[in-house]
Formats: sequence, C-alpha cells, structure tokens
Amino acid sequence: MIEIKNLHKSFGTKKVLNGINLTIPDGVTYCIIGRSGCGKSVLIKNIVGLLEPDEGEVIIDGYNIHNLERKELFKIREKFGFVFQGSALFDSYTVYENVIIGLYERGVRDPKILQSEATRVLTAVGLLPDPEEVGEAAFQNEWKILRDKMPSDLSGGMRKRVGVARALVGKPSYIFYDEPTTGLDPITSEQVDNLIASLAKKLSITSVIITHDLFSVVKIANYVALLEDGNLHFNGEVGQLRHSTDPIVLEFLERYKTKVV
Ligand SMILES: Nc1ncnc2c1ncn2[C@@H]1O[C@H](COP(=O)(O)OP(=O)(O)O)[C@@H](O)[C@H]1O
Ligand SMILES: [Mg+2]
Repeated sequence: MIEIKNLHKSFGTKKVLNGINLTIPDGVTYCIIGRSGCGKSVLIKNIVGLLEPDEGEVIIDGYNIHNLERKELFKIREKFGFVFQGSALFDSYTVYENVIIGLYERGVRDPKILQSEATRVLTAVGLLPDPEEVGEAAFQNEWKILRDKMPSDLSGGMRKRVGVARALVGKPSYIFYDEPTTGLDPITSEQVDNLIASLAKKLSITSVIITHDLFSVVKIANYVALLEDGNLHFNGEVGQLRHSTDPIVLEFLERYKTKVV
C-alpha cells in the first residue's frame, strides 16, 4: 500500500504540491489526472524517492521512504517498475539490452536468468507469442528476431511495449506509468490502455497512471485523483467523478465532453 501524507513540494517560490493526502491500496489501478504542468510527475517522483518532499511523508508497505538508508531505499525501489514519459529506451541498445538493464545494474550476470526474465516480460506485453501455443521452436525463432532489434526498428506502440516490459522485470508490486499514451495515435493509445488493464488483471499489480486523458481513466481506472494548484480537487472512485461539484472537476469534465463531440 502507498500512503501519502501532507506532501508539500516547492521549487524556489513556486509551490507545486500543497499538502497532498492520498492512499493507494494494493491491487488497484489509480489514475492521477490534471493539466500539463500541474505537478503530476513531481508527485510521482516524490512517491518513488526521486525527489525529496519539503514536508510530509510517503509510506510504502509501512516504510517511510524518505527516512531510509540508501541500501534500504534501493530495496524498496525494486518493488517499483516505471514506464517513463515517452518510451525512454536507449537508442543504441538492442531490445534485449533495454529490457534487462535494471537486472544487469542489480548485478545479475547469468545469461540464463537474464534471458528467461526478458522472454517472460516480452511475452507478458505481447511482443513474443506464448511458447505453449506456438511451440518452442517457433518461439525461439521469434525471440531471435526480436532480441537484436534496435528501438529505431520499432513502431511507437512496440517501443512503448518494450518500455512496459522493462518495467516488469524483477516482478515489481507497483508499476507507474507517466503519460503512457501521450503522443500516440488513437488506435495505439487504445492498445496501450488495453495492455495496462490486462497486465493489472493478469499480474494483480498495483498500477498508478499519470495522464491527462480522461478517456483512458474511464476505461482502465478504479480510482482517480485530480490535481490542480497543488491540491487534489477530486479523489475517489471513477464512477463518482461525475457527481463532483468542484468547479475544477466540472471544467475538466466539460473539456472532455467537447473532445467527445
Ligand atoms: N526539477 C525541477 N526544478 C524546478 N522546477 C520543476 C522541476 N520539476 C518540475 N518543475 C516544475 O514543477 C511544475 C510541475 O511539473 P510536472 O510535475 O512535470 O508537471 P506535469 O503535471 O505536466 O507532469 C512545473 O511548473 C515544472 O516546471
Ligand atoms: Mg509530467
């Protein structure tokens, strides 16, 4: 479980987070929405320990992560997978190298372990077929073709899948997606949304998704928090969003309606 208590963060005189309280129970899909520049990425970076809050606490599975020694923090971080904004693949690395980099950095060198983890996650995201369905020989064939591809050989949707595969390495309990569909065409966006939803179900992983796309929220989230001016103007079940009377929420929903028509 993730518990965020009274989180404050400023940059210079600019207040970005003004006392955020948010609890993310295990196994749910939580969307954090809000307009560009409102502080969504800053919030997520505070949750995973990439930024230090000015005030407040982030408690992951009972541990206050900003009080931890480096070594303990790294241990907690192993519970997290991130899918960064854009795909953030290393252009000069192959698909295989991009996927296993986290394990490699943790000191894993056994090629058997690295390969079996890479094929497991690439199968999970649908870039490799299920070996039980196609047979071992066909599977190995596909794997040989995929492993040495470079990011520039892949479509935007495939790059995103590689980014998700990389986040799943090491079986994290939590996966964070920062604007996973921004910059993708509508069809690819829908595929990515479906992937996020199916992974959440298949792996019972807790998913936290930053987005400004209300279409995605309605389709995949159980809970949603709307951030604006450093505060949460809504925090609750997705179905309750339309009952909100908060003017900021109404404005957001209004814009969404305009987009639908
Ligand atoms: N490391 C930083 N130093 C200074 N300002 C920052 C830093 N990171 C983010 N900001 C500012 O904080 C605000 C929120 O940014 P961000 O969380 O990236 O927005 P978004 O909701 O689009 O993800 C922006 O005004 C941004 O310029
Ligand atoms: Mg952002």
